[in-house]
Amino acid sequence: MSRMPRRTAAVTALALAGLLATAAPAATAPTTARTAPAATAAAPDIPLANVKAHLTQLQSIAGANGGNRAHGRPGYKASIDYVKAKLDAAGFTTSVQQFTSNGATGYNLIADWPGGDANQVLMAGAHLDSVSSGPGINDNGSGSAGVLETALAVSRAGLKPAKHLRFAWWGAEELGLVGSKYYVANLPTTERSKLSGYMNFDMIGSPNPGYFVYDDDPVIEKTFKDYFAGIGVATEIETEGDGRSDHASFKNVGIPVGGLFTGASRTKTAAQAQKWGGTAGQAFDRCYHSSCDTTANISDTALDRNSDALAHAVWTLSAGTTEPPTGDTYENTADVTIPDNGTAATSSVTVSGRTGNAPSALKVGVDIVHTWRGDLVVDLVAPDGTAYRLKNSSGNDSADNVRETYTVDASSEPANGTWRLRVQDVAQYDTGYISGFSLTF
Ligand code: TRP
Ligand code: ZN
Ligand code: CA
Repeated sequence: MSRMPRRTAAVTALALAGLLATAAPAATAPTTARTAPAATAAAPDIPLANVKAHLTQLQSIAGANGGNRAHGRPGYKASIDYVKAKLDAAGFTTSVQQFTSNGATGYNLIADWPGGDANQVLMAGAHLDSVSSGPGINDNGSGSAGVLETALAVSRAGLKPAKHLRFAWWGAEELGLVGSKYYVANLPTTERSKLSGYMNFDMIGSPNPGYFVYDDDPVIEKTFKDYFAGIGVATEIETEGDGRSDHASFKNVGIPVGGLFTGASRTKTAAQAQKWGGTAGQAFDRCYHSSCDTTANISDTALDRNSDALAHAVWTLSAGTTEPPTGDTYENTADVTIPDNGTAATSSVTVSGRTGNAPSALKVGVDIVHTWRGDLVVDLVAPDGTAYRLKNSSGNDSADNVRETYTVDASSEPANGTWRLRVQDVAQYDTGYISGFSLTF
């Protein structure tokens, strides 16, 4: 590019004086700052294969123990041991609560995820016992496996929820909600008052499924309904026996409850088959409380959707006051000299602690002091080195300074890492410095 020098000695002196007065753009250490709290992370997709692997294990536990996992039988305790070992390995604080029912010892398994507000506890639970007539894979290996895999996902994500998370597997539900009643009855009143909600998952993989949401606490109910609406699946209110599962133990003492259910022995209507598929005139679960409630007695689609809905509710309802998904700003206000017609100058910000990729509308705040901005080529450089051009040079743009907020589609870049503003002056005479660089996620 060629252009006539336009400066006089007097202007140069003024420009220099201006620069010097603005402070020394020297080797100041980068200063990065977060100006807003972390945004709420979205729940992960719960891998169906993992949930099904738990069901396979529960099936083989039943097979090795007389064909069931019922209260007072060895298959129940083996089920507790299986779930507990997974949770212990994932960093949960587990405890096994013993009780007696029908002259036999029963067990509840409680798993606390360390952290969160101890005065606001969100619980999710499922009964782990089967009836004695079969292995109980839909009733209720399905809920047990969905809750287990969600807990393991909390661990994999290193989730730091605002609320304290507690997961539970109940014994002797099939004998009349015995385990969950025992847990609630033995919870000191002060501990009870800290429970902000209990979500129950009893039968979430019925082979001819319906999508039923408990009509109890309105916030929990809406969280589930919104999830299903978002994936285009219609829901109905659960009516096949309110109070027929462990949420009733909590509801009876005034704790907000909710849950999901895909149907038991009731018959699917024509209208329901119309919206959900499956077979009208047939039970949601023809193997309910029978020996055929095996791993073959599962709708993968229903199990997958309900496990994802479960995780969505755990993530959403434990996040506390919801922050908007955008608005975290990272910035560097150190001055960096831009060499005249020379090598590029850079200013950097380091982003950490975010999940996933940068937004499709990443806001890039650029503040450059310069006496002829047409000299400047400006790029945003992602942590992996990908450059996004913000501004080209143009010889006749003689205005001062670049003070702009650019919007960049950075959705293919992981958010975390060191991002750079790269500024190169490609023409002689006029000079300046980077005064500020910010990223808003
Ligand atoms: N709890 C019952 C069982 O385990 C199944 C059941 C019937 C159910 N109706 C329900 C569970 C309504 C939840 C909601 O055998
Ligand atoms: Zn059940
Ligand atoms: Ca220049």
